[in-house]
Amino acid sequence: MSHTQGFNMTFSFTALLLLVSAFIYAHGKPNIVYILTDDQDIRLGSLDVQPKLRSLVIEQGIMFENAYVTTPVCCPSRSSILTGKYVHNHRTYENGVGSGCDAQSWRDLNEHKTMGPYMSKAGYTTGFFGKYLNNYAQGSSGITVEHIPPGWDRWYTLVGNSKFYNYEVSNQGQSEKHGSNYTEDYFTDRVRDEAVDFIKKSADKPFFMYVATPAPHRPATPAPQYANMFSDKVAPRTPSYGFAAPDKHWIITNGTPPLTPETTQVVDELYRDRIRTLVSVDDLVEAIVNELKNAGVMDNTYIFYNSDHGYHLGENNQQGEKRQPYDENIRVPFIAMGPGIPKNQKTSALALNIDMAPTFIDLGGGEIPDDMDGISLKSALMSPIEQEEAQYHFMLEYYGEGHVAGLGFLHDCNNNTWVALRSVDPKNANGNKDILYARFYLKDDFPVQQSEIYFREYFELDEDPWEKVNLASSLPKEQMQKFEEILDTWYKCSGVSCRNLRKITLL
Ligand SMILES: *[C@@H]1O[C@H](CO)[C@@H](O)[C@H](O)[C@H]1NC(C)=O
Ligand SMILES: *[C@@H]1O[C@H](CO)[C@@H](O)[C@H](O)[C@H]1NC(C)=O
Repeated sequence: MSHTQGFNMTFSFTALLLLVSAFIYAHGKPNIVYILTDDQDIRLGSLDVQPKLRSLVIEQGIMFENAYVTTPVCCPSRSSILTGKYVHNHRTYENGVGSGCDAQSWRDLNEHKTMGPYMSKAGYTTGFFGKYLNNYAQGSSGITVEHIPPGWDRWYTLVGNSKFYNYEVSNQGQSEKHGSNYTEDYFTDRVRDEAVDFIKKSADKPFFMYVATPAPHRPATPAPQYANMFSDKVAPRTPSYGFAAPDKHWIITNGTPPLTPETTQVVDELYRDRIRTLVSVDDLVEAIVNELKNAGVMDNTYIFYNSDHGYHLGENNQQGEKRQPYDENIRVPFIAMGPGIPKNQKTSALALNIDMAPTFIDLGGGEIPDDMDGISLKSALMSPIEQEEAQYHFMLEYYGEGHVAGLGFLHDCNNNTWVALRSVDPKNANGNKDILYARFYLKDDFPVQQSEIYFREYFELDEDPWEKVNLASSLPKEQMQKFEEILDTWYKCSGVSCRNLRKITLL
């Protein structure tokens, strides 16, 4: 054997080894499908109308009973999901461009640091389908449909806010306008078909997809075949339905118009339409699962199901809305299935919107950026029984932006601004109670601590799960001081200091 031949053989053997290990490495990476609904509650039982989601995902995986968002409004929460950061760090305060929603500040600060680019860097083909941020490619956002944020290989994204018909999408940077023909235009189905097509085309290498339906957000237009379902149903009469506590902040005591016989009907009709639109989401879940099976990648794929925040339909005597610190608004469905995740289990571990990006990056073998405020849920997903490591506290924040009340709608006025500490501890595993401590302000200044505190609320949810009795005035002084100190620290936290605050002692 000549010297040259030996070199060639060694070279090709090494090259082969490299190729094989690259192949194994690439194919060993799990695919990740993240399905995100819009305004879907868990507390009012909306998951009950989705039997396909139940049999195909919930029973095949794990349900997080303590899944929450850190802000209960679309654009800020979606920004938290995408970046792994609290509102005060990504600075998308509300749904308007003036409040940072898909504004130039979003592109300068965050757009290159969302889960898309990080998953791309970790070796994934990435696809985005559905609703991005409420102002995407709208006139005032300063960009057009040609703008595809960095890190997304496939981009099929709604212009502006949730719609079911008569909308525009950016289809890979090209404008695509849709009318109102169900077969061609119903947006939940369009998202479904594009997502399925992406799986078909991408299944030979690791892929990450973000599938965000408009449902069940207003206008909550049902598909024609489901438009008459549930006609005998009404919004659940929960313990706080139609109940306005006399000792809550001004929105509840004398803000939005209370339920009347007329508004009760409006709320019930909205409830029916919301659950009708979720039946189409159920079809989407089934189509995605079927295509993963057809493509032979089901065993190597994680599916996550989540919502950007919850909703109320009569709780606290308020008509359909969000933007309040109560559990109807901040608790969300969060379900996961996939390799290593036990089947048909529940966990009390806390999962937050800011944990999505770190979790996906971790599962994808990437490096979680230190400036993310959330944590990876990988160990909670794989071993839900072990609760020792569970971390139970988080911060809530909401900054109202409007200055006038339109149609009696006060929830987005700037004088509905608040920060809160929420601690969930169903098993008293670390000696804390299940509590909500909230501070309310009449201005949306940032940083909010410069404003005067207008009102405080405190609830102990073990005894009062529907937050009906405000105990703030009977809180011991030292305890209140401790809560105040925690909040003062918390809304200045970033990265590791936010993560550490999840493990503090409250007393
Ligand atoms: C809606 O679209 C379908 C499929 O393209 C077509 O067959 C049907 O005629 C359309 N309906 C209307 C009313 O245009
Ligand atoms: C908040 O602002 C709205 C709209 O300007 C106003 O109607 C309401 O009275 C204000 N609430 C308080 C407590 O000042």
